[in-house]
Amino acid sequence: MIIEPRIRGFICLTTHPKGCEQNVINQINYVKSKNNPSGTKKALIIGASTGFGLSSRITSAFGSGAATVGVYFEKPPAPGKPASAGWYNTAAFETQAHEAGLYAKSINGDAFSDEIKQKTIDLIKADLGQVDLVIYSLASPRRTNPKTGITHTSVLKPIGESFTNKTVDFHTGVVSEISINQATDEEIANTVAVMGGEDWQFWINDLKAAGVLADGALTIAYSYIGPSVTEKVYRKGTIGRAKDHLEATAKQISEQLKDINGKALVSVNKALVTQASSAIPVIPLYISLLYKIMKAEGTQEGCIEQIQRLFEQRLLTGGTIPTDAEGRVRVDDWEMNPEVQAQIAKLWPQATTETLPDLGDLKGYRTDFLNLFGFDVPGINYQEDVNEMVEIPGLV
Ligand code: NAI
Ligand code: NA
Repeated sequence: MIIEPRIRGFICLTTHPKGCEQNVINQINYVKSKNNPSGTKKALIIGASTGFGLSSRITSAFGSGAATVGVYFEKPPAPGKPASAGWYNTAAFETQAHEAGLYAKSINGDAFSDEIKQKTIDLIKADLGQVDLVIYSLASPRRTNPKTGITHTSVLKPIGESFTNKTVDFHTGVVSEISINQATDEEIANTVAVMGGEDWQFWINDLKAAGVLADGALTIAYSYIGPSVTEKVYRKGTIGRAKDHLEATAKQISEQLKDINGKALVSVNKALVTQASSAIPVIPLYISLLYKIMKAEGTQEGCIEQIQRLFEQRLLTGGTIPTDAEGRVRVDDWEMNPEVQAQIAKLWPQATTETLPDLGDLKGYRTDFLNLFGFDVPGINYQEDVNEMVEIPGLV
């Protein structure tokens, strides 16, 4: 079929298999072009099909030569209906990994469930014995807690008071004011239940009890802090509470893994265009200003640049892993550079529908958004007929 983007709000209903494949190949080539530390031999990546999780899988496999098990929740294709992007990304990754002689298998299903955790443990036991790295990179609007059966839905709201600020509709470029009412206590608790550390803790409990964590195992989850302009809706809002919980969980898990010399850490990553971040108000306007500044400075990074740097310069140096005062690993250092943030603070009040095309990088935002779904990728002929019925070679 010939596939064109069909955009509805924060999502694109269609995806392009060839474009997704090319994105993965580009990420693999980037990793191969760098100096990569060895260290990871067998990695489990939870949330492995898009964003930071996909880049973590690629970096483990093509940087350290690791065997990888990926867990994700993606929609398979049907005749005339393309799969979700993570499906095609995973198909491309596993094809490339197998060609390179690397073990790569995956499980498609709800990572929050006990059933998928058990299936993953069974696969690790059968094929790898143990894993030495567990990446936890889920982003989801809801979670069913397997112990209670309750389904929690997250919200992106401020806490304590309502909040008004600017945002941009990145499709139309229209800058407008939005107001968001403060979250209720129940909404805060539900957001923490979805995006906090409880499920990460459940995974580690089960993996450890099953004996599939190697001596010295490392587990990493991803967090975000960001600037003062997004603070009320992000770090001091409902999602920030969830991130506080995730960061506290890292400390708890580290205690729990002491007897096997293991460790849990949170890495604070940079703001990037992903399916998850496009839906957060105010963030797209911030990102479009940030991208322009960082590109001009030569410090702009995508998911793969962030994760490759995280592995090479933070996690796998062979020395002590550097952290901030709260024990977090930081690869948001270039974003949070005071000079970069001073420019954001100066540009923020000036950004309007008329000025943003000059002040910010709306074009880069839109390209990155389309790229998530395999569109607007250089070198792809979008007039060409493509096979949407792609299979994932390592799918269990
Ligand atoms: P993403 O949307 O690109 O990736 C989410 C992954 O989770 C996908 O592989 C998806 O299949 C999987 N997933 C979602 N629900 C699932 C379920 N029920 N069962 C199994 N798999 C499921 O998201 P992104 O942006 O890579 O986020 C990953 C982490 O990084 C999140 O914790 C996010 O808060 C954090 N982060 C994101 C930043 C950004 O700017 N995008 C910045 C810093 C941290
Ligand atoms: Na991810």
